[in-house]
Amino acid sequence: MKLFSSVSDVQDIKQLVSSALALKASPYAYGDLGKNKTLGLVFMNPSLRTRLSTQKAALNLGMNVMVMNMDKEGWALETQDGVIMNGTTVEHIREAAAVMGEYCDILGLRSFPKLQDRDEDYNEEFFNKFVKFCGVPVVSLESATRHPLQSLADLITITETNPVPIADRANGKVPKVVLAWAPHIKPLPQAVPNSFAEWMSRAQAEGMLDFTIAQPEGFELEESFTPGAKISHNLDEAIANADYVYVKNWSSYKEYGKLLDFPEGWMMNNEKLKLTNNAKVMHCLPVRRDLELSSEILDGPNSLVIHEAGNRLWSAQAVLKAMLEELK
Ligand code: CP
Repeated sequence: MKLFSSVSDVQDIKQLVSSALALKASPYAYGDLGKNKTLGLVFMNPSLRTRLSTQKAALNLGMNVMVMNMDKEGWALETQDGVIMNGTTVEHIREAAAVMGEYCDILGLRSFPKLQDRDEDYNEEFFNKFVKFCGVPVVSLESATRHPLQSLADLITITETNPVPIADRANGKVPKVVLAWAPHIKPLPQAVPNSFAEWMSRAQAEGMLDFTIAQPEGFELEESFTPGAKISHNLDEAIANADYVYVKNWSSYKEYGKLLDFPEGWMMNNEKLKLTNNAKVMHCLPVRRDLELSSEILDGPNSLVIHEAGNRLWSAQAVLKAMLEELK
C-alpha cells in the first residue's frame, strides 16, 4: 500500500481488519519490520488519539518517528501555484513536502477543511498536493473529507464485539449499525461521518453488517459516501433494534460551513437506548458530554468509546505494516 486516504485504497478490508486483530494479539511480532525506517507525522491541526496511537504503532514496528506540528512550529505554507509570495506565506508546499520526503520513508498528514469553500475542501487540494510533492507513501491522519484510520478502528471494534451469535451469522444475520447525527454548538467537518459511511457501506456490500444513517433534514452527507446505506430523518425509528449506534455531529453539506437550526431530541441517552437491541454506543472522540452524547451512556456499560480509541493503535499498525512490506 502506497497511499491510505480512503477505503478505496484497501483491496481487502476483511484482511486488513484480521491483520489489525492479529497485531493486537501480538503487538511486537513485526518489531524489526520498520528498523532504520522513519515515519514523519505532520499536523496542521490539533490531535490526541491520532498523534499518540500512530506514534505508538510505528514504535511497535521498530520505526523511528518524528512529529512536526506544522500549524504552530512550521513556516506558513502557500498551496496555490502561480502566486507571488509577497503576503503571509513563507514556504511553498512544493518545497516543504519534498523536503519532508527527503527525511522520511512514510509520511502522515492531518489537514482539516476550512469549511469556507466546499469545492476547495472536497477537491482535497492540500492533501493531494502534499502526496504529489513528498514522493513517499502517505497515510491520512484525517483530511478535509475523510478520516480512514478512525473508520478502520471502528470496523475493527465492530468486528471484535459483534453480538450476533455465530449460528445466526451463518444464516445471514449481521449486526445493525446506525450512524446517528448529534447536536453541537459549532459547524464541524464531515470527515468522520463521510469516512465511517464509506467504510460501513463497503462492509455492508461485503455482507459484514447492515448500515443506516439518521440525520435531521438538511444534514445529508454527499451521496458518493453512502452507497447502499438506508437513510432516515427519524432517530427513534432508525435506532430501533440497532446493535451499534455511532454518534457524531457534522455540519450541513448543502449549506456548507453554516450552523443550521436543528430539531430537539437528537442526543443519545438511556431513554433512546431502550429502543435499541441493547446497542453498544460509539464515538470517535473528542466528545462534548451531555451535548452530543449523555454522560450516563459514556459512563455506562454500553459505551465502547475507550475500547474504540484503543483500537486506533491497531488500525495504524496494520496500515503501517502494509506500507512497510511494500517498501522492502
Ligand atoms: N478521533 C480522533 O481522531 O481524535 P484526535 O483528533 O484527538 O486525533
